[in-house]
Amino acid sequence: MSSLTVLGCMWGDEAKAKIVDFLGASADVVVRFQGGANAGHTIVADGVKYVFHTVPSGILYPGSKCVIGSGTVVDPFGLQEEMQALMQKGIEFTGRLFIDERAGLVLPLHKALDSSTEETLGKAKIGTTGKGIGPAYSDQTARCGLRLGDLKHPGWLKERLASLYRYHGQEISTRRLNAELKALAEVGEFLKPFADQADALVREWYLAGQSILFEGAQGTLLDLTYGSYPFVTSSHTISGGASTGTGFPPRWLDRSIGVYKAYATRVGEGPFPTELFDATAERIRKTGNEYGATTGRPRRIGWFDAVAGKYTAALNGIDSLAVTLLDVLSGIPELKICTGYWLGNRKLAGWPSHPLELAEAQPEYLALKGWDADLGKLRSLSRLPKNAREYLEAIQDLLEVPVKLVSVGKDRTQTIVVK
Ligand code: IMP
Repeated sequence: MSSLTVLGCMWGDEAKAKIVDFLGASADVVVRFQGGANAGHTIVADGVKYVFHTVPSGILYPGSKCVIGSGTVVDPFGLQEEMQALMQKGIEFTGRLFIDERAGLVLPLHKALDSSTEETLGKAKIGTTGKGIGPAYSDQTARCGLRLGDLKHPGWLKERLASLYRYHGQEISTRRLNAELKALAEVGEFLKPFADQADALVREWYLAGQSILFEGAQGTLLDLTYGSYPFVTSSHTISGGASTGTGFPPRWLDRSIGVYKAYATRVGEGPFPTELFDATAERIRKTGNEYGATTGRPRRIGWFDAVAGKYTAALNGIDSLAVTLLDVLSGIPELKICTGYWLGNRKLAGWPSHPLELAEAQPEYLALKGWDADLGKLRSLSRLPKNAREYLEAIQDLLEVPVKLVSVGKDRTQTIVVK
């Protein structure tokens, strides 16, 4: 029996999908436990491009089962589109995809509320992906949200949808309400074969000795509680989320891998202590293709932040590190890693919980020599340039967690396993 949680440990976009895809080969079940279509990634396998937002990328392995857990929020129309696009590329879902009936629904109303809230916030906006995530989770917490299982019960669905509009003080004509219900009935038919009490299945599979891989979305610094609040997403991206978002007992969460990009990026608003605004940032953005997968927004770029990294490793109980996009740093003469934060003449003990302190924190840096070699073809740690090895060692020492995987390119094979 074994379970493994793969978590993005910064602000998302750490190339988790590449790591999940790499490790997915040995997983029987891949489980998404939080977030929704705010996540997005593309996987190229055997020259074919697959786009994912809500479906776990493990679906690419014909022998794997995939689960969308109760802690996620599902846009049923978007999910149908995503599944149909994958079906056209030959992906089989029957008997392989299980969506927990308790997953919250993201409705057109939530997307409208997402953009109107951002507009109202003005300068204080979060910079959301606009996918309706915050409003959908808020409705779940307020106990007025709809869930996937509601699609099976037309009378109940009608009542709940009408009262949801009332809850938000929105008028909806009978014609519009009926049109929305009809669309929901159709998408409900499509999703029906996949809706289940997925929690029981995952527990059963674990006890039967199958290996379960929990695939985190977004990153720890976007966690609703422990991230850079209020500039966060609305779900629990930390390792504990894998338990609450699937009904999997916490003591069965065996190991966890923290995915860290070799530098830092962030999309959306909010403090980012190591952010760079110079030619190095531009170079990294271009080489690393640092543009949002869901929104196309250019990502903000910064140096690797070991203060944040140590915080997230501790918070998640990370056992080993996967460092991604190391190849992107080739050719930069000097690299920096943030080793401490200063507030005026006071050194902070670690990651501050208040956004004002985070915004004012001045990073202290360790400077390291860069390397020139193209890393894309290298497959062992010993073949990496000495300076690249020293860079990884610095990360490992500062985070006090061993590096086990290093990604040096997009392809599945461009992965170094540290012995
Ligand atoms: P929301 O999740 O759309 O509500 O957005 C809240 C914050 O999380 C914004 O700063 C987004 O840019 C960020 N965010 C949401 N999903 C992702 C992701 O998959 N990668 C990186 N940032 C994300």
